[in-house]
Amino acid sequence: MASNINGFSKLSKGDKINWIAKTYFSNPQDVIELIEQYWNSDEELQKLHDEFIENTITNFYLPFGVAPNFLINEKWYTIPMVIEESSVVAAASKAAKFWSERGGFKTTILGTEKIGQVHFIYKGDKSKLTTFIYDTQKTFLDDTLSITQNMQKRGGGIKNIVLRDKTADIPNYYQLHVTFETIDSMGANFINSCLEQIATTLKEKAINYKAFSQEEKEINVVMSILSNYVPNCVVRAEVSCPVEDLESSDIKNPQLFAEKFVQAVRIAEVEPFRAVTHNKGVMNGVDAVVLATGNDFRAIEAGVHAFASRNGQYSSLSHAEIKDGIFRFWIDLPLALGTVGGLTSLHPMVKIALQMLQRPSATELMEVVAVAGLAQNFAAVKSLTTTGIQQGHMKMHLMNILNQFKATDEERIKVVAHFEKNVVSHSAVVELLESLRK
Ligand code: MEV
Repeated sequence: MASNINGFSKLSKGDKINWIAKTYFSNPQDVIELIEQYWNSDEELQKLHDEFIENTITNFYLPFGVAPNFLINEKWYTIPMVIEESSVVAAASKAAKFWSERGGFKTTILGTEKIGQVHFIYKGDKSKLTTFIYDTQKTFLDDTLSITQNMQKRGGGIKNIVLRDKTADIPNYYQLHVTFETIDSMGANFINSCLEQIATTLKEKAINYKAFSQEEKEINVVMSILSNYVPNCVVRAEVSCPVEDLESSDIKNPQLFAEKFVQAVRIAEVEPFRAVTHNKGVMNGVDAVVLATGNDFRAIEAGVHAFASRNGQYSSLSHAEIKDGIFRFWIDLPLALGTVGGLTSLHPMVKIALQMLQRPSATELMEVVAVAGLAQNFAAVKSLTTTGIQQGHMKMHLMNILNQFKATDEERIKVVAHFEKNVVSHSAVVELLESLRK
């Protein structure tokens, strides 16, 4: 019977597993065995993973795949992807090959600015607060020097501290809106440490600021935290070619294909229901690389979708046009990524992923991730506007169905051969398996 428990985090790993197995399962021994099967036999490696979070009981595997043949700014890449969805890596590889034969992907970094805010309540004269913040600028920078000096040596640090009046939204609410350059680190810890110091300085200096009344001296800091919305930390990825060059084994009429493709993207630009799914296809590529490289996919997801709504309605992240006979398809993505710090120096597979990408800077990783998103989006919209998505998707999903029914090697060979020429559906696979098993 389910129950609550005090002091769970203090239990040993074995006791935690025992409690879970006995509390929630009728076959605790089987559950314990399965959980243990997912442990790594290398104790040191297992300990490393255990200590990433609290209450680790085992590991949770996701496939680590690779998509080769990405030509990005004239350089070849094999892109590491961590994802469970059957068709994603295959689609990325196909799109990579397609565009490598048509000039490859081009990227441009449009900005690398990160943002953090100190949110506070100030009851008093706004002009006095403005002067106070102006007078305190240097102290903010001096007081954060112990945190920023290493970053400054690498060319980063605090770029700007601006007072924002938000009293029209909430009475007496102001912000210090701080912009940062964090070079190759994602910078979350750096930014949050700076902000907490700035908040301390803000409160302390206000108490001694002569021009303030007693009430004005009592600045109340509500919170200090980075923003995952980074509309000025943006990369553009694009592909283009003469329309007639789009011709390929599955694009027989390139003009028709290009027109339909542009129309499909246009629909995602104006129709939020379609835009969400269109952008989900983008994120299939983006998240897979973000995960493989040890970056924070929740931060990326939150920031990207906020960006997709920046004009007041949720819209497509990618755009397409045909101009003077040239087909062009591009995407702008806000991506606050790191290639140093965090998991990048801890997780052995993340290290392999970054090595495979030839030790990229954060901006180079932004380029690779945006390309993965664009390639995935291209593959999805190409399928949708030609054959439909299910043909490719179900072919890849076939293996999952075979695994679900524990097909033998012999059955697999027969089923795969059969579906080379037939449409895959769950029921058709089950029917065939049943007939083979009679
Ligand atoms: C499935 O994971 C992603 C797609 O739905 C994306 C799209 O519709 O563009 C195929």
